[in-house]
Parts: sequence; structure tokens; C-alpha cells
Amino acid sequence: MPENAVLTIATLPYTDQKPGTSGLRKRVPVFQQPHYLENFVQSIFDSISPPHGATLVLGGDGRHYNIEAIQIILRMAAANGFGRVLVGRSGILSTPAASCVIRKQGAFGGIILSASHNPGGPEGDFGIKYNTSNGGPAPEKITDSIFEMSRRITQYRIVDAPDVDLDTTGDRMLCGMRVSVIEPVSDYADLMESLFDFDAIRSLLAGGFDIRFDAMHAVTGPYAREIFVNRLKAPESSLMNCVPLPDFGKGHPDPNLTYAHDLVSILNGEHAPDFGAASDGDGDRNMILGRRFFVTPSDSLAILTANAKLVPGYRRGLKGVARSMPTSAAVDRVARELGIPCFETPTGWKFFGNLMDADKVTLCGEESFGTGSNHIREKDGLWAVLFWLNVIAVRKQSVEDIVREHWARFGRNVYSRHDYEAIPNDAANGVIAHLRAEFDNLAGKTFGSYEVERCDDFSYTDPVDGSTSTGQGLRLLFTDGSRIVFRLSGTGTEGATLRIYLEAYDPIVAHHHLDAQTALGDLISIAGEVTQLEARTGRKEPTVIT
Ligand code: G1P
Ligand code: ZN
Repeated sequence: MPENAVLTIATLPYTDQKPGTSGLRKRVPVFQQPHYLENFVQSIFDSISPPHGATLVLGGDGRHYNIEAIQIILRMAAANGFGRVLVGRSGILSTPAASCVIRKQGAFGGIILSASHNPGGPEGDFGIKYNTSNGGPAPEKITDSIFEMSRRITQYRIVDAPDVDLDTTGDRMLCGMRVSVIEPVSDYADLMESLFDFDAIRSLLAGGFDIRFDAMHAVTGPYAREIFVNRLKAPESSLMNCVPLPDFGKGHPDPNLTYAHDLVSILNGEHAPDFGAASDGDGDRNMILGRRFFVTPSDSLAILTANAKLVPGYRRGLKGVARSMPTSAAVDRVARELGIPCFETPTGWKFFGNLMDADKVTLCGEESFGTGSNHIREKDGLWAVLFWLNVIAVRKQSVEDIVREHWARFGRNVYSRHDYEAIPNDAANGVIAHLRAEFDNLAGKTFGSYEVERCDDFSYTDPVDGSTSTGQGLRLLFTDGSRIVFRLSGTGTEGATLRIYLEAYDPIVAHHHLDAQTALGDLISIAGEVTQLEARTGRKEPTVIT
């Protein structure tokens, strides 16, 4: 330990929340309490036992408290024997960029500061998570250990030193540890340029294809400027809200039809551009829009899979694909036709990481606006946007035409997710317990034209490490391939969030003009009936529909 490292006696408050793979998320004032962040960071270091002189990557999405937390973590890394910390200039690294840098630089791991799509600001959310040397979120055995450590920590190590200058790139020393302030965008932008045909996209844009990218005042702003404007020569007017703000301009940086309303109204407007896209707080989510047209994330995964060979990085084909269980089965149909395996995993990104490390899948995605590939070990918002632009540049068709041709060929998995947020925990648990108890009565039952084939509680055995995850969501599977899935969110911060995922498989092209909520009308009523939702929660309508 360096000479001026101080052993500080840790005091309450200890962490009271089990960190998931998306880390520990709390309101900013909770993190600002004395010793709170320090206790958690020391618990990370004690759990991962870094070899002396190890390299750590550090950065965040720029939200309120980002820079203060980074200075604390740097002082603690120095006291804990790290040899070098690579930190994004001004403390910035998007989640995908952090994953990219960890892998490219062969770092021991990385700490990412973000609460993803949750609002920021002095009263907003803050978060911290640890990623391992493969660039992906720490597996459960590490996050469990961090939690255990954080409950019984008695002291942490920190050096007594002034703040490090993070505003200019270059190396500086902090009590014997090298702090390398790196340009946060270039490694990531180079990786994108190695996967996609930038010349083709540049010609598409030069030919007048009009795009809008909404960074929602979050971390992707500088990444979008470098990639779209500097490298792809898109006009400045293609960028919306690309100046990152610590409170995200008081917005909710979640790219969906509800929260990205400014972008949605431009794409639905009279002189709508050809293409619109948005990303979330830390840059790992994406939403894709055509002119007056929304692409569901489930369809997006299926379409990227079907068109992968048009893109240089995937020209040689895909090893396999994976989707989370609640994501629609649209990609399954494509995988079947391509003759490649398709894995159905529980919700959350960590399951994809194992499959990618074992080289079993190339592309993966979730219905929750997350799509990605084995180029890193996180989902990647701008990567999905560039993938779409590359496909459009080759096919020279509109977003809507590409999607409709896809439906005509594979059938359409009409899809929507209804979220009921901030339900009292008891009521939400009651809904799930009631449904589970109804399983026997529901099997074989008919609701209008829908017949329940079977119901189950999804469980998954990881084909790589053999671990089993149970209780991953209740499924009502109908004989025609339609489904309703029910699960409680693991990331909400207030009460419980019940998610109802609705999917109707429709092979009939003539129906494909119907909007999703209309086409799903019957399944929506069945979901209300079998859950006794209104009686149990008092809710008539979902809080968010995606
Ligand atoms: C939500 C999404 C899930 C995603 C996770 C982290 O989790 O539904 O797909 O992996 O955020 O971004 P949930 O709140 O449903 O547990
Ligand atoms: Zn995110």
C-alpha cells in the first residue's frame, strides 16, 4: 500500500440492496452519504482481489455525481495497489465504450458509473457496476460476494491526495499509480468503422438520406458527433440533444415511444426524415424509427439477423443468435431458415456473455431496446443504429419497406409490452402467486379463438457453465404460437413493476397494416382476466406501453 494510504474506518450506512448485474442503483443523495460509495468500492476490490499493478478502466455516463465519484475511486484504486487506471476524459465512457476499452487494452476489469436510462440530477439516480476482463457485467458470484462484503466491511483504503486533472488526455501519477486520461470516443469509433461499411453509409447520407439521432442529453452525444458528423459527414442537423448534461436536461433518457417523444413527433411529422434513432443514458439501448414507422426491438433483432451478411463485420455469417425469453420469437424464425442455433435466455445481458465467450452466438437482443453482438460484451445502442444504416445503404429501401418485406417472408410476431409501475409489492406478488396457482385451470382453456397449450415458469440451464436459473417469468403459451409473459422487474426503484409481454403470431400478410395494440386486443383482455389485474392492483391502464 502506498505510504500515504489511509485506512479509514468504515461506518454505516452499509449497502442494503443486492447489486444485480446492472450494479447498485440508488438515488444520488444516498451515494453522497459519507463512506457509502467508498464502502461499496472497497467491497468490489476485496471481491475481485486484483493482482498488484493491475489495470482498471473507469468512466461513466456523465450524470450528476459522476466526476466526484471518479475522484474517490481513483484515490481508492491507488491505495488498493492498482498499477494503472484508464479513465475517459472528463470521466466519460459510455457502457459499450467501456466494454470496448476493457477488451482492447486487456484490462483486469472496469468500473462503470451509470444508472442507465433512469433520470439523473441531484435528486435522480446514480449507479455503479463492475465489469470483468471480458468486458461484460460481473457474474452473479462476484456481485453476490460484493454484496456480502459490503454488509460486513470495517475499513477501506484511500490515499490522501488532491483531485486528478481529468480534462486533458495524457498520463499523470497518483501516489505511484498511473492515471491515463484517454479520449473516450476514438477506440469505440474505430471498432465501429471496422465492422460497418462507412463508405456505403457516407454515400447514402450524401445522397440526401435524412437522419436524426437523439442522444437525449446523455452520454452518446460526443460519440454520435464523431461517428455521424465527423466520420460519416452527416449534417449537424442530424444530431438532437447531443450535449450531455448532468441531469439529462431533466428528461428521462430511455429511448422508447413514451420518453423519446420529441424524436417520435419529428418522425411522425409532415417533413419527416427517413430515419430516426435514439439511445439511453449510458448508450447501450437503441430505438429505431422509419418515417412514420416504429421498429419493435424484437423485429429489429430478427431483421439484423436476416441481413447480417450485407455488413462487412458479419459477412461470413453468424454462429448463432440469442434472445431473452420475453423477446418475441421473430428471430427464431430467421434462425431456423438460416440453419443456425437460437438460444432463449432469461432477461438480462449476463446470459449472452457466456454464450458469446463460448463462441456460440454472434448476435443477441432483448425486447427492452437492447441489441448487440460479440464485438463487445454489453448491448450497444450506436452499433444497432449503424447496422441499420449499413443495411439500408446496401438495400436502398426505406425502413418500412425492409420491415414489411421481412413480415411478408417470415410472418409477423405482433408485439407489445405493458408496464405497470410502482405497484405496492404485496399486490404485485399477489398477482404472480394467483397466476401460478391458476396454471392447472388455465391449461387447455379457450379464450375466444385462443387456446392455452400450456403454462410454465421459465427456467434456464446455461449450456456453457451448467448453472440453472429458475423463476424467470410466467408464460401462457397458446396453440397458435402466441404468448403472454408475466414478470416482475428487477431494476425498478419504487414498489414493484409488473411487466406483461404480449405476442401474437400472425402469418397473414393482409393483417399487417394493423397497429399492434389493435391486433393484440384479445390478448390484452385475456391478460387482464387471468391476472384479475384491476381488482388486485386498482390499475386500469399500463403506465408505459412499448
Ligand atoms: C430491464 C429490461 C431488461 C434489461 C434490464 C437492464 O430489466 O427489461 O431486458 O436487461 O432492464 O437494462 P427489468 O426491469 O425488466 O428486470
Ligand atoms: Zn443503459
